[in-house]
Amino acid sequence: MSKIHAAITAVNGYVPEYVLTNKELESIVDTTDEWITSRTGIKERRILKGEGLGTSDMAVHAVNGLLKKRGISAEEIELIIFCTTTPDLPFPASANILADKIGAKNAWGYDLQAACSGFIYGVSTGAQFIESGKHKKVLVVGGDKMSSIINYQDRTTCIIFGDGCGAVLLEPNEEGFGVMDSILRSDGSGRQFLHQKAGGSARPASHETIDNNEHSVYQEGQAVFKFAVTNMADVAAEIMDRNNLTSEDVTWLVPHQANKRIIDATASRMGVGSEKVMINIQRYGNTTNGTIPLCLWEWESQLKKGDNIILAAFGGGFTWGSVYLKWAY
Ligand code: UT7
Repeated sequence: MSKIHAAITAVNGYVPEYVLTNKELESIVDTTDEWITSRTGIKERRILKGEGLGTSDMAVHAVNGLLKKRGISAEEIELIIFCTTTPDLPFPASANILADKIGAKNAWGYDLQAACSGFIYGVSTGAQFIESGKHKKVLVVGGDKMSSIINYQDRTTCIIFGDGCGAVLLEPNEEGFGVMDSILRSDGSGRQFLHQKAGGSARPASHETIDNNEHSVYQEGQAVFKFAVTNMADVAAEIMDRNNLTSEDVTWLVPHQANKRIIDATASRMGVGSEKVMINIQRYGNTTNGTIPLCLWEWESQLKKGDNIILAAFGGGFTWGSVYLKWAY
């Protein structure tokens, strides 16, 4: 019997309606459209508005659309891996909440926290359940309501992040398509440069943590940039090398959308021209776990069976990694 690969057989995405433009940010913090565009590539981002709505509500839209496209019912899903840094609640897992909201009665699931590399970790982890034969339908969801942990008085972070969610379905493939390889890395000593100071067990919420704005993203941008630019490019080059892929062999690079300059550096290191790079950072900013599945969703109609696709990400933790897959449909 030929080897079972985990192939993406459907993809879908959802972004909320509200568009927060650079122009509007100019009226909130001391910044300019020119600064944001030249330093990050971002022009606008989406914000989920509405009392009581969380990341799982965006996932409901993305997943219901995905199930419809694939022509299957929610009850056929066996496992949900919900990659998010902004779960609806500290517990239970957003995977459980999502399963309930979409009617995935036969699924078990868990949340995966790897900041901006979460979706790559999720695809790689989900693939193991398919390759081992344990499951036949695994849903990997990547999404964040970053606006829920952003301090809109901090111009160094509020201009970067946005809300959005994407999802893919993994199913067995015996024709040689699907996830071929992955490299996952982490270095917890990098946590000092990108984290949320309070709200966890080490520093639970208190009046003081609220007053100090400790429930929002803290980032030392330059330090993160330096690590991101090197590690994301290195890991993408490494996965090409170990799979004997030349830049001509690569059909698409799907990079995490954190900063256009990091994306360009990764593509350049891989020798891949800009026409092969999926970039939508200008419209959505950094949606953390959402960036890569949202790209796949937007480019889906251009993808062909057999396309060699490299996913690459870098994020808080630090975490980073790359996945090589052959598109299956
Ligand atoms: O996705 C997870 C991983 N995260 C990343 O990969 C993010 C990596 N980092 C970055 O993308 C960039 O470091 C940022 C976009 C966050 C910042 O860009 P930068 O080119 O590294 O700027 P900087 O932090 O070195 O700041 C340069 C100047 C500073 O002013 P002075 O000290 O030179 O006078 C900042 O105060 O720009 C100032 N500045 C701003 N000015 C206008 C910082 N934020 C803003 C702003 N508008 N929004």
